[in-house]
Amino acid sequence: MIKGIQGWLFCLQVLGLVIHLPQLATGLGVNDFLYFRVLSPEDIGYIFTAAPAQDFGGVFTQLYEEIYLVLAEPPDGCAELRNAAFLEGQVTLLERGGCSFLSKARRVEEAGGKAVLIADNAYDNDSLYVEMVQDGTAVSTSIPALFLLGRDGLMIRRSLEQHALPWAVISIPVNVSSIASFQLMQPPWTLW
Ligand SMILES: *[C@@H]1O[C@H](CO)[C@@H](O)[C@H](O)[C@H]1NC(C)=O
Ligand SMILES: *[C@@H]1O[C@H](CO)[C@@H](O)[C@H](O)[C@H]1NC(C)=O
Repeated sequence: MIKGIQGWLFCLQVLGLVIHLPQLATGLGVNDFLYFRVLSPEDIGYIFTAAPAQDFGGVFTQLYEEIYLVLAEPPDGCAELRNAAFLEGQVTLLERGGCSFLSKARRVEEAGGKAVLIADNAYDNDSLYVEMVQDGTAVSTSIPALFLLGRDGLMIRRSLEQHALPWAVISIPVNVSSIASFQLMQPPWTLW
């Protein structure tokens, strides 16, 4: 079953192109969920659901067929990013807490990151999508900022640690309405 799905996915991937689509901004816009797929490591090769920030951050104007998802150091992104060089041009995974969502996103943007995923620090919470809102400061950011369930963030982090990998390879955003078996490709630990 898994092999079949993976093979099928691979075909889709081969057919895929990096497309610049202005209409992505409306099609996959603010307040809708946005999806990304982990290509490697394989044990977390699922399509994940993320919630774009409510009132800050940019939208994806480009599909990244293959881009790194890099764990930030420190994980909460509330101090100077020690691995900033690896975040440049990639997507960063951060943890909630310690400082505002916006200041985390801003720090990633300053490091040259393309987008930021902020995972809930409630690791066992597999259902709550927090609405990320701005923090009332004059700070702004123009990169997409997405909220990820605590369970999903934990599973991604754990897999990378087990494989001693500094990053995962992902596709983002993924248009799930064009994928018939989308539901089967969601993480098995998520209830749906
Ligand atoms: C997730 O968080 C929400 C809001 O804090 C809470 O109502 C819910 O019970 C939590 N779920 C779990 C599994 O912890
Ligand atoms: C997503 O895919 C569907 C079905 O193939 C298509 O109709 C829709 O335009 C696509 N949306 C975007 C934003 O590309």
